[in-house]
Order: sequence, then structure tokens, then C-alpha cells
Amino acid sequence: MSDPFSNTADPAGIRRQFAGVDLEELAKKHGTPFYAYDADMIRQRCADLSEWDTVRFAQKACSNIAILNLMRHEGVLVDAVSHGEIARAMAAGYQPHGKSGYQEGLPSADPIVYTADIFDRESLEAVVQHGIHVNCGSADMLEQLAERVPGANVTLRINPGFGHGHSQKTNTGGEGSKHGIWHEAVPDVLRRAEWAGLAVTGLHMHIGSGADLDHLATVAESLEKTAHDIGRSLTMISAGGGLPVPYQQDESRADLSGYFTLWDTTRKRLEDSFGHRIRLEIEPGRYLTAEAGILVTEVRATKRQGSKKYLLVDAGFHTLARPVLYGSYHPMSLCPTSTTPPRELESVAVGGPLCESGDIFTQEEGGFVSTRDLPPARVGDFLIIEVAGAYGFVMASNYNSKPFPAEILIDRGSSQLVRARQSADEIFSGEYIPKT
Ligand code: LLP
Repeated sequence: MSDPFSNTADPAGIRRQFAGVDLEELAKKHGTPFYAYDADMIRQRCADLSEWDTVRFAQKACSNIAILNLMRHEGVLVDAVSHGEIARAMAAGYQPHGKSGYQEGLPSADPIVYTADIFDRESLEAVVQHGIHVNCGSADMLEQLAERVPGANVTLRINPGFGHGHSQKTNTGGEGSKHGIWHEAVPDVLRRAEWAGLAVTGLHMHIGSGADLDHLATVAESLEKTAHDIGRSLTMISAGGGLPVPYQQDESRADLSGYFTLWDTTRKRLEDSFGHRIRLEIEPGRYLTAEAGILVTEVRATKRQGSKKYLLVDAGFHTLARPVLYGSYHPMSLCPTSTTPPRELESVAVGGPLCESGDIFTQEEGGFVSTRDLPPARVGDFLIIEVAGAYGFVMASNYNSKPFPAEILIDRGSSQLVRARQSADEIFSGEYIPKT
């Protein structure tokens, strides 16, 4: 397996290139801030999971249609949580229904699956119109679907009563989570599915994002038990997503092959007891794109506030929300515009342009401002925020009427703009002044 930090900065905290492309040139050509993604790194992460029958990308992590198109070429299928994500998947070339990912003897897989706890009206329309398979996180969804698509096959998303995530906000199991059908309600929900005339063909559990593998592994046992409650109609089980990635140098990579073996063994036991093949899916978001993405910003001011030195850059929590939302740590490096050799690192707090004190990239959960050791930076240098390819662009906002940043895909040394920076007009297009 490749070195997790092979795509990050040198030990002195300087990075001048990304995926073989000169960052200063890229910044001068496209302006800042922008996200850049390394296509080869994404391919590598897809390949890491090739033992699984189906890798289904949780596109909420990074849904630019160029990224989805890349996933499609790698044989990765896709998850959608809204009608917008269904439309994106189709715009990227995924067939809305029908079967794909043919493998000898295995039940086939639906290219796009809609996974949610509700149908908003637009999503229900999209599912009906395009014949998309649904992973239901509430019993109400079953009845709403049966009314429109009699006899549909469905997957059930079960909340096993426990969960884990890198933050309480990304823990999706247990009583504190709104997600999934409560495990004790399964018998009742199965009866409701039968009355509604639906066939339960899939079983899915996802207990949280950025969990550790020890917690994730406990899901297999719980899923196996629920699979027996459902019985022989099952042809697919999904381990959900949640695979962690290292955000810090001292974090190790997850043992993926041990994790696969655990799930494969569970699947085989179910096959033996049901007497037919069962497809085994995994549904990662972060794992496939986090390490492949960086956020490039320009340093616009440096200042001292008492004992603290601040670097202020042109990206803020409207560009990357993870630090303000969860106190998330992202590695950082500097792309200096001068060629003078790097001097000693200095401790700095890094903030953005927004009119809000919480607009700080170096913060702990709870909003406490911390610092980072970085090479001394000057206005005009570029600050690179790393491991930002998952839940980066997709959680951007227009707060303070700041535009969405650009996105650039780098493939085999050549860079392409895959999303233009938003213009000011685009920010308020769709707003109207009432006629008097
Ligand atoms: N499947 C389901 C049903 C999910 O809800 C999620 C994530 C995934 C798969 C993918 O999880 P992953 O493999 O990426 O951990 N904004 C947060 C993460 C929220 C995750 C939401 N659901 C963050 O920046 O950490």
C-alpha cells in the first residue's frame, strides 16, 4: 500500500507541487481559493478496495461530476442522498437503473442507490421516474414507495443501536441518531414491507463516519443477526461507509484486508444458510477522496494579536467547514513565492476572511483557537490545506456572499478546471426585488 503522506508536503512544511503540477503556476492561472484533486490517488484508493464485490461511492463526500465520472471508469457504483445527487450521477454517465457490475454467479448491483431517512417530494419523483433502487431508513419510506412503485425491491438501512464517528456529529448509530430503522423494529417493519408488497433484497448498516475499524467491525455481527430476521429474500449486504483516513502523520492506515475478511466470512455464512450467493458492498466516501484533495489559498495578511500570530488567507469556513464544525485537523503546508530556503518554523493561527471569530482553520472542537508550526509566510504566498478532498467543497456555502471556490482535477500531469469559481452575479441569481 502506498504511503498515506506521499502526496503531502516535505518535512520543512513546504510544498511547491501537487500531483506533478506546479502549484504557484496553477494558482496564478486559476486564482485562489481552489480545490485540486489528484486522479491517480483516487484510482489508487479505489484499487485498495478491489476485493469487495461492489464499491459504492458515497458521493456526498465529493460530488463534482468529473470525480463521479472518474469513479465510474474505475468500476465504482454510486450512492445518492437527494434528487440532486441522482441528477449528478446521471450527468456523470451512470445509468439510473438496470443492473451493472456483472460478476460470475453474483446477484447484479444497481448502479445508483438512493439512501435516506425520508423522501422529500422531489427525491421520490426522481426515484419513481428513473426506477432507482432505494435504501430505506424509515418505515414511512416503504409505504410511500409502494404506493408509487408496487412490488419494488428495497434495501433496509438498520440502526443497530450503537454507533461511532470521529465526532458525535458524525455518529449515525444508537438512540442519539435519527438514522436508520431501529433494530428492534425490524420484525414490525418487515411485516409492513410485506403488506405493502415490497421485497426486501438488501440490508445495510452504517454506524458513522471516520469511525475506527474496531467499532466498524462490530457491525458485521449485528448485521448477520438481522439478515436472519429478513431471510432468503436477501441478495445484498452492505457494510456502509465510515472507513477512516489518516489526517495526522502519526495516524496509521486502517487494516483493510482484515476488515474485508471479517465481512466476507459473514457473507459466506449467510450464503451457506440461505443457499444462494450474496453480494457484498462497501460504501465509502472519505476513503476514496480525502487524501486526493487539497485546498489552495493565498495568504492575504499576517498580524499579531498579543502573543498570537495570525495568518489570514482567502479561504474560510465557507470554503472548508470541517474545522469550525468538528474541530477537525487538516495538515497544512506553504507554497512560498520566493525561492529563498525555508527558515525555522513558527507557530501561527490560521484564519479566513469571514466576519466571524470562528473562521479559524486551526481550532479544536469547542472553538478553541490553536496554532500550527509552519514556515514563515508572507502576503502572496500560498497556504495549502491538505487531506481536504472529502467533505470539503461539498460543504461550502455562500456565507458573507463569498463565491464557491474553483475545482481542478489533475490527471497524469495535466490540470483541468472542472468547476469554475462562482461569480458575484451567480451568488444572488434567483433573488428578486418585489415589484411595488
Ligand atoms: N453511507 C452513509 C449512509 C453515510 O451517511 C455516509 C456519510 C457514508 C456512507 C460515507 O461515510 P464516509 O465513508 O465518508 O465516512 N461531514 C462529515 C462527514 C459526514 C458523513 C455523513 N455520512 C465530515 O466532514 O467528517
